[in-house]
Amino acid sequence: MLEQLFATHSILVKIFLALLVAGLFIPAMTSKKPLSFRKASFIYTMLFQGIITMVAFTGIIAMVIGEMPMSIGIIVMILIWSILMFIEIKKYKLIKVAKLDKPETHKVLKGGFIKISIIQILLVTIMVVLMILKAKGILSI
Ligand code: HEM
Repeated sequence: MLEQLFATHSILVKIFLALLVAGLFIPAMTSKKPLSFRKASFIYTMLFQGIITMVAFTGIIAMVIGEMPMSIGIIVMILIWSILMFIEIKKYKLIKVAKLDKPETHKVLKGGFIKISIIQILLVTIMVVLMILKAKGILSI
């Protein structure tokens, strides 16, 4: 059961990473259509929150079932999780209220979307690398 939960947590993190990478194409794919940009961004945020919630859920259940104490690794995961969620909600709210019919605003938000996605990809990658180093016994977190 615990093994399955770890495996599910791990697969969900990879699916999440794939979503973040796929999201990088949204600004280019909707570059001439501000309303499509807003719509795609909305669907993307829903998927983002759905998957990241499942990541937290499987992690918390694994902690409870495995009776795992809080470790630095888990604290870093919860921190990264909160930062990812916080940035995503801020970004979505900005895109929701922005006057996207103004080309300048649309341009700034397209650039912002990509920059935010890159930061989020980096955060998830750092976490995956940290856990690989932990599994190899190089790091004890
Ligand atoms: C509330 C949020 C989270 C909780 C409670 C949680 C909990 C856990 C627990 C208990 C483990 C097993 C720890 C161990 O082996 O020492 C684990 C593994 C892992 N978690 Fe999380 N996690 C959370 C969020 C995240 C997030 C946001 C990421 C990615 C950014 C992440 C990436 C990983 C990775 C890569 C592993 C190693 C999986 C493997 O063994 O293949 N976790 N998590």
